[in-house]
Amino acid sequence: MAKQIGILTAGGDSPGLNAAIRGVGKAAMGAYGMNVIGFRDGFRGLMENRTLRLDGPVLSGILTIGGTILGTSRDKPHKMPMGDQEMDMTDVMVANYRKHNLDALVCLGGGGTQKNAYHLMQHGLNVITLPKTIDNDVARTDITFGFDTALVIATEAIDRLHSTAHSHHRIIVVEIMGHNAGWLALGAGIAGGADVILIPEIHYDVEKVAESILERSHSGKAFSIVAVSEGAISKQDAKIVAKAEKKLQKALDKGDKKARQKAEAKLAELQTWQVEGTVRLARQLEELTRLESRVTILGHLQRGGTPSAADRLLATRLGTACADLIDEDVFGVMVAARGDGAEPVPLDQVAGQRKVVPLDHPWIESARRIGTSIGD
Ligand code: F6P
Repeated sequence: MAKQIGILTAGGDSPGLNAAIRGVGKAAMGAYGMNVIGFRDGFRGLMENRTLRLDGPVLSGILTIGGTILGTSRDKPHKMPMGDQEMDMTDVMVANYRKHNLDALVCLGGGGTQKNAYHLMQHGLNVITLPKTIDNDVARTDITFGFDTALVIATEAIDRLHSTAHSHHRIIVVEIMGHNAGWLALGAGIAGGADVILIPEIHYDVEKVAESILERSHSGKAFSIVAVSEGAISKQDAKIVAKAEKKLQKALDKGDKKARQKAEAKLAELQTWQVEGTVRLARQLEELTRLESRVTILGHLQRGGTPSAADRLLATRLGTACADLIDEDVFGVMVAARGDGAEPVPLDQVAGQRKVVPLDHPWIESARRIGTSIGD
């Protein structure tokens, strides 16, 4: 009997999602005669049973379109916002999966989605996932789709900022997404020829950053581009955060509710403060170097628009491999990119893990060799 499969996209959207939906859908229907439905807006659509039939016409013409035709959300099955409270809606999702007689649920997403998919797997669903995110921080895959497109966008932004920084003899601090991983800032920083690259994995020293800018200035280069990852943090600030985290841990160990609430409030305050880190950095650099500074926050521009050729290829490769694995009844895995191919990796090895930039990564070495300051 023909298999029935459901697909959903969850977490932040990213270029390449439609290419992946198309890859899974066309291969599942064309090669194996499966029936495919989509759930709208991530796990919320599965809970609310809002579906879209993914037949031939729906899957046509979407390869080049950014975002996701299914819509997405950051809702979690076990912590679903319902009115003014959060509820565990796992059982409702399991019931809807059964109602559609599904043989498999394909979840396309980043780290959070891998965790949520694993949760549903533990509740008896045949789950299979694909790694998507512009952050490239999903564990056990060579790369995620969405990353290449964002890399191209951020690199082009740095290219464009060069001419205006040069004309005005300014420092331009450009903030690049990536959550707590520095892949995007590091990759775009190197490809775009940034003079300073700051990533979350290496806590920076603002005085050293200023020194490197002044050195450039003294050698006749009166402008500098600082590519800073949104999660980058100075050595000084990292110490403050570590202290607050330690306090929280102590309160948790002791079971001290009051101290826990206080520590949580402090951490939340630090998080808000961290959001303004790039603006603060530019101000500090201006004070230390006496060079005029400006800030550009690329934000969601990095997630929008047409996917690059590399992302279309990757998403199609992983999507079609996913259909093959469903046909072989391989579930509870993420379809990881491995070399030129694809490889199933057990979800328990992916869920809850994050792939950050290793300190000895060749990209860091190369950046240092060409004289880029990494802020340490
Ligand atoms: O995970 C992708 C990402 O774009 C991160 O780089 C960023 O920190 C986050 O999502 C932003 O999330 P939202 O779109 O929910 O503001």
